[in-house]
Amino acid sequence: MIAALTAVHVVAVVVWIGGVVFVTTVVFPMIMRMEDSMEKVIFFQGTERRFAKIAKICVVIAGITGALLLQLEHRWSSLFSLDGIGPTLMLLLWTMFVFMLLFEAEVFNFLFSGSAQHDTKKIFRKLTVAHWVIMLVSLTVIAVGILANHLKLMK
Ligand code: HEM
Repeated sequence: MIAALTAVHVVAVVVWIGGVVFVTTVVFPMIMRMEDSMEKVIFFQGTERRFAKIAKICVVIAGITGALLLQLEHRWSSLFSLDGIGPTLMLLLWTMFVFMLLFEAEVFNFLFSGSAQHDTKKIFRKLTVAHWVIMLVSLTVIAVGILANHLKLMK
């Protein structure tokens, strides 16, 4: 059961974080090369909204399977301790994504409305930096999660 849950958990994480890597390293450079501001905004909102739907499903699956793994392994008490560093970082990252996906529409409306509309280049530069930070943090959490789990198994 634990092995099957871990498999589903990791597949959900791969699809979701793989999407973050794709948007950051492929979609954003394409947007930055576009001349027309309107074209940039439409392309960005189209891709990001489609990806957000897939990400939401994966976030739910990763959350449920992650919680079930903690339950079955009786490891809730290891959260926020060195022993549970992997799941703790996963939970924190997951919570951050839940907030981002819940308030995504509000953030986009704020970014692309009113006076901000005139400075799309600047907005996309900031969004690129934000996506790189999120992507690198996510990949670090994956690496730490795997390392912590395997070092624990070797003890
Ligand atoms: C509610 C959120 C989450 C919880 C409670 C959770 C919990 C867990 C647990 C208990 C395991 C089994 C391994 C262990 O006990 O250390 C695990 C495995 C794993 N999780 Fe999460 N997780 C969550 C979200 C995430 C996220 C956001 C990521 C990626 C960024 C992630 C990546 C992984 C990976 C790669 C493994 C496999 C580790 C291995 O078997 O070597 N998880 N998770």
